[in-house]
Amino acid sequence: MEDFYNMPNITIFTHPLIQHKISLMRDKNTGTNEFRKLAEEVATLEGFEALSDLPTEEVEIETPIEKCMTPMISGRKLAIVPILRAGLGMVPGLLTLVPTAKVGHIGLYRDEETHEPHEYYCKLPRPIEERTIIVTDPMLATGGSAVDAITQIKEHGGVNIKFMCIIAAPEGLKKLHDAHPDVHIYVGHLDRELNETAYICPGLGDAGDRIFGTK
Ligand code: PRP
Ligand code: URA
Repeated sequence: MEDFYNMPNITIFTHPLIQHKISLMRDKNTGTNEFRKLAEEVATLEGFEALSDLPTEEVEIETPIEKCMTPMISGRKLAIVPILRAGLGMVPGLLTLVPTAKVGHIGLYRDEETHEPHEYYCKLPRPIEERTIIVTDPMLATGGSAVDAITQIKEHGGVNIKFMCIIAAPEGLKKLHDAHPDVHIYVGHLDRELNETAYICPGLGDAGDRIFGTK
């Protein structure tokens, strides 16, 4: 297997808080309400690192002591783009960090037989080319959905793109990194493999169904 842990543009988290919360998400007895909260919390923790290179600008602030120039980030420079549906579950966790970020949407679903992604929606904030874009999807399985979503964002002019997931399979991580080596990929946990129906093992099941309480 490739050494994903030492590749530029791939960050695989080992922080105990992230690992603990992902373990709770894996538990089949974790209900929708708790699962949703955990997805948000993991997104916040991953986002803290993924946003560490957000551009800042010096602004003048008057403290009780004196005026000074001090750095602030501009929320206008960030776009969060969830892959529907399950990616929506990570958006509130990132908005906690940057409440003024704009949010786009990419609608994709995976064909249950072929596992190929099918697009049904794309709406991105403008001007997309000037923004740092974080694409969210809890599951990077075959990688087909993420590759397709990022290709679409690039076709619309997106340049500075990051991808954040909660669990990845090695197969999907390789596919995404090979297809878009310029995209920094943030992975909460790298799992063992895909099974014959392209589900991640041990994984957490169907992320969309667990976030939205459907089946
Ligand atoms: C899931 C998941 C990803 C995709 C991952 O979505 O949220 O988008 O599968 O699989 P891949 O890496 O093999 O493409 P799904 O298609 O089930 O749609 P949903 O989010 O609407 O449930
Ligand atoms: N999509 C999911 O929601 N879970 C998987 O394990 C694979 C794809």
